[in-house]
Amino acid sequence: MRFDIITVLPGLLESPFAHSILQRAQKKDLVDIHVHNLREYANNKHKSVDDYPYGGGSGMVMQIEPFAACIEKLQSERKYDEVIYMTPDGATLNQQIANELSSVENIIILCGHYKGIDQRIRDIFVTKEISIGDYVLSGGELPAAILVDAIARLIPGVLSDETSALSDSFQDGLLDAPIYTRPAEWRGHKVPDILLSGHEGKIAAWRDEQQLERTKQRRPDLLND
Ligand code: ADE
Repeated sequence: MRFDIITVLPGLLESPFAHSILQRAQKKDLVDIHVHNLREYANNKHKSVDDYPYGGGSGMVMQIEPFAACIEKLQSERKYDEVIYMTPDGATLNQQIANELSSVENIIILCGHYKGIDQRIRDIFVTKEISIGDYVLSGGELPAAILVDAIARLIPGVLSDETSALSDSFQDGLLDAPIYTRPAEWRGHKVPDILLSGHEGKIAAWRDEQQLERTKQRRPDLLND
């Protein structure tokens, strides 16, 4: 699966993909991530990509031409399934959206800055608008990294133990059960006896019960959907 991320701050996206699971996924050619510097597509000598908003108001707006030039160049090279704009007014990212996107081939992700991007980019090129939550960040780069991580780990072969993505919180609509490792007792705090019992059936039933309880307590909204 290929991701093309368009940004004015490519340096912000150097590190998130250079470690651990995502790094291995790229080495195994399961994921291909390309970061494009929007300024290289600016059509003026100062390499500026923003301008004042029509109608007045505070903040600058990212212009259509550089985005159009970069998107159209990419689209002339291969077919893209989605052009996604990271924005706080998009649909809130959840496991279902990540699951759906993990089965496509090629995705372009646009990172906004300043006041946002010219509405015509959204109208003409963007196929999905995604938010990572009801708060505003300084730009779309960190949201883009979060989206890529959430999708890439679902691609078969990316996680060494595929079942571990299936048992993630949210995959079955519930939060995860508590987990423990050695030592069995630390400063008087004990691991629940059931987990040491070796009784698989009872452990599975305990985990189901804990998942339900935790979800009821912390995220009752998940049970009402
Ligand atoms: N850009 C700025 N804030 C954002 C958010 N919450 N989600 C996605 N993109 C953003």
